[in-house]
Amino acid sequence: MNFIRFSDLCAKGQVAGKRVFIRADLNVPQDDAGNITEDTRIRASVPCIKLALEAGAAVMVTSHLGRPTEGAFTPEDSLAPVARRMQELLGREVPLVANWVDGVQVAGKPLAAGQLVLLENCRVNKGEKKNNEDLAKKMAALCDIFVHDAFGTAHRAEASTYGIAQFAPIACAGPLLAAEMDAISKALLAPKRPLVAIVAGSKVSTKLTILKSLSANVDQLIVGGGIANTFMLAAGLKIGKSLAEPDLLAEAVSVIESMKVRGAAVPIPTDVVTAKTFAADAVATVKAATDVADDDLILDIGPQTAQALAEQLKKAGTIVWNGPVGVFEFAAFENGTKVIAQAIAESSAFSIAGGGDTLAAIAKYGVEKQVSYISTGGGAFLEVLEGKTLPAFEILTRRAAS
Ligand code: 3PG
Repeated sequence: MNFIRFSDLCAKGQVAGKRVFIRADLNVPQDDAGNITEDTRIRASVPCIKLALEAGAAVMVTSHLGRPTEGAFTPEDSLAPVARRMQELLGREVPLVANWVDGVQVAGKPLAAGQLVLLENCRVNKGEKKNNEDLAKKMAALCDIFVHDAFGTAHRAEASTYGIAQFAPIACAGPLLAAEMDAISKALLAPKRPLVAIVAGSKVSTKLTILKSLSANVDQLIVGGGIANTFMLAAGLKIGKSLAEPDLLAEAVSVIESMKVRGAAVPIPTDVVTAKTFAADAVATVKAATDVADDDLILDIGPQTAQALAEQLKKAGTIVWNGPVGVFEFAAFENGTKVIAQAIAESSAFSIAGGGDTLAAIAKYGVEKQVSYISTGGGAFLEVLEGKTLPAFEILTRRAAS
C-alpha cells in the first residue's frame, strides 16, 4: 500500500509551524464512575503526538468516545478523563477544547506551534457519522496536515476519519496506522508461505465471511471453538451437545472443498477435551474425535491435535491469529490455546494477531513480545480478515497518488 507517512513528513522538516490534526482512537473502556479501566489506546496515541510536537507543529488531537447522539453532548461523552490520562503520559498540560468545528482557540488565541489540545468527542458533531461534506470541509480547514492514526476506526467512513482526509491539504498515516497497514500488507497481501490462519470463536455465522475470504488465500485454515464443532460435523464426526450451527454445514463443506482443490486444508481435530457441563470445575476428559458421546460438550482441542497444529505453526512463513481454540478461561480447557500461543511465540513466522479474546490469551500466556504484530483494531481487524478494503486505507492511498 502506498500512502504518505507522517514520520516521513516530520523527517523532511515539512511539519514545523504547521497545524496538524490527528484523528486518534481514544475510545477506551470506562467504569460507571467514568474511570478509565484500560488505557492501551491512549498510550498507543502518544508516539504520534510526540512526533508532531517534536517536529514543531501546532497539534490538535480528537477521537470519538462511545456512540453519543449527535448534537446532544452529555458529560458522559466527554474526553475529559482521556485528557487527564494523556496529561500524565505526556507530562504536560492537555487543554480540552469544546465546540471546535468553526475554529480552535486556546485562551482566546489561535493555536501556536508547540501547543497541544485535545478536541472534545468528535462524534457529538452533527454530521460526523454520515460523513457530512460541510462538516468534513470545516474540519479540513482547521489544519494543514491531517494525520489518521486511528486503526480502530479505519473501517468507518465518518467526517473525522474519511471526509477530512478528502479535503485536508495533506492526508497521511500516523505511526500507529502505518504500522497496522505495514503488518496487514505483510501478512495478507504479500505473505511468506505457508500462510496459516487460526480463526476461532463460538459461531461460524459471525465469521463466515472471514472463513470464506481466508479460504481463498491461506494454506492452512485452523478452526477452533464452536466454529471447529461445525467443521467436525461437516467432516462426518459426532459432537454430542456441543455448540454448533448445523444449518451452516453446507458452507463449512464448501470451505473445506474449495481449499482442497488448491492443495490447502482445514485440519479437523483428531482428539478433543470434553465435559458434561459448561463450568470451570467440570471434569475434563480427553478422547478421540470419533468417540464423542451424545451428552458431551467439546470445550477444547485435544493434546494430540494441539501438538500437530503446533508443528504446522512452527513451519509457517506467516501466521494470522483471531480467536482462542478452546475455553481458555477455564484451566482444564486452556491447553489447546496455550499450546497454540506458545507455538506462535516459538515460530520464526511473521505473526499478526487481533481481537479481544485473542489479546486476552496473548496476555495470559505472556507472549506479547514474540507475536510480531498485535493489532489495536477490533471491528477494523475483522473487516481486514474479511478481505474488505478499509475506507482509511482507500482514502490515504488515493491521496498519496493525487
Ligand atoms: C472500537 O472500539 O472498536 C473503535 O473505537 C470503533 O468504535 P465504533 O464501533 O463505535 O465505531
